[in-house]
Amino acid sequence: MEKFTYFNPTVLHFGRGVLDALPGTIKQYGNRVLLVYGKGSIKHSGLYDKIAGLLNAAGIEVVEYGGIRPNPVVEDVDEAASLGRKEKIEVILAVGGGSVIDSAKIISITIPANHPAWNFYTYRAKPVSAIPMIAVLTLAATGTEMNPFAVLQNEKTGRKDGYRSDLIFPRHSFLDPELTVSVPGNYTAFGIADLIAHCLENYFGPGEFSLTDRFIFSIISDAVEWGPRLMINLQGVEERAAIMYDATMALNLLTSNGKGGGDWGVHAMGHMLSLHYGVAHGASLSILFPAWMKVMKNRAAERILKLGLSVFGTSDVDSSIKAFEDFFKQIGSPTSLSEIGLGEDQHEAIENYWMNTKAQGSAYKLSKEDYHQIIKFMA
Ligand code: NZQ
Ligand code: ZN
Repeated sequence: MEKFTYFNPTVLHFGRGVLDALPGTIKQYGNRVLLVYGKGSIKHSGLYDKIAGLLNAAGIEVVEYGGIRPNPVVEDVDEAASLGRKEKIEVILAVGGGSVIDSAKIISITIPANHPAWNFYTYRAKPVSAIPMIAVLTLAATGTEMNPFAVLQNEKTGRKDGYRSDLIFPRHSFLDPELTVSVPGNYTAFGIADLIAHCLENYFGPGEFSLTDRFIFSIISDAVEWGPRLMINLQGVEERAAIMYDATMALNLLTSNGKGGGDWGVHAMGHMLSLHYGVAHGASLSILFPAWMKVMKNRAAERILKLGLSVFGTSDVDSSIKAFEDFFKQIGSPTSLSEIGLGEDQHEAIENYWMNTKAQGSAYKLSKEDYHQIIKFMA
C-alpha cells in the first residue's frame, strides 16, 4: 500500500432534473458567467436553449465561448481566458464532455494568472487561485467532473499532457443521465472503454490495497454488465445512469487510494495516437490495453490473474486478457490499429512518438523493445 491523502471537494448533483438547481448554485458564486461548450452537440440536443432559458430567467449575465474541439487544444483555452478576463466574469459554466470541462478547468486558473496556459503544463508557473467552475456533463467517460485533472494538446510542441491541481476540481457537477442519451454509439462505447481503462491504470499502479482493488472490480463488473445493455438501447436512461456513475467513480481518486496515483503508461501512449492521428481517447485505450497486458503478462501475471478471476471468472492470464479484448469488441470499441485505418507503415512513427515523449508508466517501465512488442499486438 502506498501512502495517500484523500481530498475531493466537488459537490455532485446526480439524476433526472438536477439542472433545476443550476441557477441557484451559480448565484452562490456570482452573476456573470462564462459559458464554455463544444462544437455544437448542445445546440442540436436542445440543451443550450434549456440552459440559456434557466440562466436568463434567473437574471444571470452570460458571455459565451463555444467551439472547443474533441482532444482540446491550448490555443482555445488561452483565447477563452482572454475573453473571460476582459469580460470580468465571476463563474465558469462548462457544458459538455471531457474536452469542454478540461478546457474550462485550465481557463479557470489562466484568467487570474494572466500568462499562457501552457506555462502550467511545463511547470514554469503554479496556479494561485481559480475562478469557480461548475460543470454540466453530457458524456460519460473521463471522470473529469469530479477530479483534479485536465488534459490538453499543444500541437506546436507535440505534446498531449495531463495537469493536476486541487484548484481545478469543479465546485459542483450536474450529472443528468438523460443529457447523455444523444451521445452516438461510437462515443458511448469509447466512454465505456475509457472508464474501464481508468480502473485498469489505477489497478496496475504501484502497491496493493485490498479495498481499492475491490472498488475497481466492482466498477469494472458494473460496466461489463451495463455496457452491452446500453449499446443495444442507447435511449435507456437507466443504462445511461449506470454507466455515468461508473465513469465518475472510476476516476475521482477512489480507485487510486493506496495505488501511488496509478500507472498511466497506456494513457501516455494513447495520447500520442490522439495527438497525431485524431484518434478518440477511449478508442486509443481499447486498442492499447489488451496489447499492453500481453506484453506485461509475465511481469504482472498475478495481478492480471486476480483481475480476470474477479471480473470475468477466468482462470488463467491469457483468457483474462482475452476477456477484456472480447468485451471491447462486444461494445464496438476498436481493438486494433488496422480497424482505425493505421497500417504497418505507421508503426515506426508511433514508436518514435512514444520514445520522444518518454511515454511511460510509473509501475511498469516501458523499454524500446516493449513499445515494439505492443505495436505488434495492436496491429
Ligand atoms: O463538441 P461537441 O459538439 O460537444 O461534441 C462532442 C464531441 O464530438 C460529443 N458529445 C458530447 N456530449 C454529447 C455529444 N454528442 C451528442 N450528445 C451529447 N450529449 O462527443 C464528442 C467527444 O467529446 P469529448 O468531450 O472530446 O469526449 P470525452 O468526454 O471522452 O473527453 C475526451 C477528452 O478528455 C481527456 C481525453 O484525453 C480527451 O482529451 N481526458 C480527461 C481526463 C480527465 N480530465 O480526468 C482523463 C481521461 O483519461 C482523458 O485523458
Ligand atoms: Zn482516459
